[in-house]
Amino acid sequence: MSALGHVGHLARRLLGSLSTREPAPGDVAWVEATLQDGEVALWRRMAVADRRHSILVGRRFVALRPGATRAELAAALLHDVGKLDSGLRTSGRVVATALGPRTERLRRYHDHERLGADRLAAAGSDPVTVALVRASAAPAGPAAADAVDPGAIAALHAADAL
Ligand SMILES: [Fe+2]
Repeated sequence: MSALGHVGHLARRLLGSLSTREPAPGDVAWVEATLQDGEVALWRRMAVADRRHSILVGRRFVALRPGATRAELAAALLHDVGKLDSGLRTSGRVVATALGPRTERLRRYHDHERLGADRLAAAGSDPVTVALVRASAAPAGPAAADAVDPGAIAALHAADAL
């Protein structure tokens, strides 16, 4: 995502984060039926705004890629799970985006795709899930190409960018 695109994305997320409304029970049931047990535990630890964003991106992802596998959809639902490591709330993320990776905590935020992929690997996620979350940081990167269908990477990028 470009820097400007990222700022716009964050602005929409900031508005969304003002609400502390829990996701709808039907959406939560969909997530829990999709994810493996270790993944559900991680998903539940995410901030409420991040869980709502996860569902939105997951729904867009399957609309863009109707033949998505369970492992690919798990990556869409958990693409931001690495944000658990920075512990930044949305206002802090706006600061992190403006300042760049200057401190350890800000570096962890900027590195959240890799950290998220590591967490998912440790939780026993499917290798496709891990690789797709890792690839979400650099959709055109060479590391992405061998493990994941480029169509899945493009769909996740598009679903997250709206
Ligand atoms: Fe996202």
